[in-house]
Amino acid sequence: MSFSTRILCIGAGHVGGPTMAVIADRCPHVRVTVTDINKQRIDAWNSNDLPIYEPGLDEVVKRARGRNLFFSTDVAAGIREADIVFVSVNTPTKAFGEGAGRAADLQYWEKTAREILAHSDRGKIVVEKSTLPVRTAAAMARILNSNGRGIRFQVLSNPEFLAEGTAMRDLEQPDRVLIGSEETPEGIAARRAVADLYATWVPRERVIESNVWSAELSKLTANAFLAQRLSSINAMSALCERTEADIDEVAYAIGTDSRIGPKFLKASVGFGGSCFKKDILNLVYIAQSYGLREVAEYWEAVVRMNEWQQARFVRTMLANMFNTVAGKRIAVLGFAFKADTGDTRESPAMTVTRALIAERARVVITDPKALANARVDLQDVGDAVEFDADPYRAAQGAHAIAVTTEWAVYKTLDYKRIYDAMEKPAFVFDGRNILDHRALFEIGFNVFPIGKTPLKHV
Ligand code: NAD
Ligand code: UGA
Repeated sequence: MSFSTRILCIGAGHVGGPTMAVIADRCPHVRVTVTDINKQRIDAWNSNDLPIYEPGLDEVVKRARGRNLFFSTDVAAGIREADIVFVSVNTPTKAFGEGAGRAADLQYWEKTAREILAHSDRGKIVVEKSTLPVRTAAAMARILNSNGRGIRFQVLSNPEFLAEGTAMRDLEQPDRVLIGSEETPEGIAARRAVADLYATWVPRERVIESNVWSAELSKLTANAFLAQRLSSINAMSALCERTEADIDEVAYAIGTDSRIGPKFLKASVGFGGSCFKKDILNLVYIAQSYGLREVAEYWEAVVRMNEWQQARFVRTMLANMFNTVAGKRIAVLGFAFKADTGDTRESPAMTVTRALIAERARVVITDPKALANARVDLQDVGDAVEFDADPYRAAQGAHAIAVTTEWAVYKTLDYKRIYDAMEKPAFVFDGRNILDHRALFEIGFNVFPIGKTPLKHV
């Protein structure tokens, strides 16, 4: 079959894999190849056991794989053939040198830029899919266009806004697609070509075009605003616990104001995930490097509040379990950073678990999809932690249950059965406010929700 366009995506992770699967599914006239340096990942993409769990992903991959969707480790061949190269490699926080702990580590990005240059014999459109500091595209364009062979590249910014757990819906029906380019005739032509691709299934008015800096900065801004809402509601949850106000009632009351809106107001043990913290810290670093101290401090507070909320959750556990959890079995329900994913990066459950281990508790972790990642994340703690896929077994003999991920399955467990098998007094710390607190209290539990008055027998 002949294809009108050949696309390559470098980086077969949580963004590259699902995004390219949807492009291939919706654009049968386009040949899509996804490459990665991690052979194990590519083998998994070519198997029936995909490397990431995302509801609805399996069906889409099965429909397109082998037809116009291919997974390969041959990055060089992929580059040679491609008209458009998406780069979706990881951009973690830098762990060394200048900006350590805040700035984005751009080594993977730069490596791919050099690789694209090495294997190209004609000009291409290069698309930043990874989240990058504002003005990275310009640096990349300089690297790519500094070749002595007269080959010209256009570097676009097309940030991804999908959330894990809902990635397929977010990709198939996005609120918007954002494409930024240099404001030259060549830049605008390149962004139109990518806009046309998306317009195959996304309504035109949802494809936003902008200059390249605006696109890059909009991505960091969107994540900062979303995380700021969470830190705001979590800050209020602490105040609710002192004043007998109820955070869900407050969230509902403010969310009905159409200027505020109801989404992203669920108070919790804190936000997790690979991006909010890293992207805000990156924003902080950028602001600092432009001498904007107040801007940096403003956004940094969003991260600090989140860290405080996670620590506060553990302090509540300790204070109410007679100031010691040493030797006590505690069941942690959920290790994924949110429901419907197996991803555990920056999961609040990890912070809670490590803090409990530091207090010498015996922690048992249960999760429907994230136990494999949890085992890797906690391999340094040895026998201090157990893993059990069965929540009933995890809670057996426990003094307390801590709900750290909002998996739907935890709402429907038989809590009477769990209570009967636990040590007494039995405690529930609901870090996601998903359980029926009154019903738990009536069973006999001491119940500590987030942002609500606790229900205590002791
Ligand atoms: P990930 O770690 O899941 O995947 C990145 C992949 O890139 C890895 O498989 C890695 O092996 C590969 N890689 C690194 N260097 C490479 C190279 N030189 N050649 C080929 N492959 C290489 O990361 P992710 O979660 O998919 O995130 C990717 C980017 O997208 C990040 O910048 C992130 O901020 C952004 N983002 C992520 C999400 C999300 O929900 N995870 C959403 C929006 C944006
Ligand atoms: C987030 C953004 O929502 C995406 O738009 C963005 O593309 C992505 O980051 C990224 O750049 O990586 P994600 O981290 O996958 O997506 O998941 P979210 O749904 O945003 O949840 C983040 C964290 O906030 C989770 O721990 C979740 O449990 C928590 N959360 C979310 C709450 O505590 N309360 C809420 O009301 C919503």
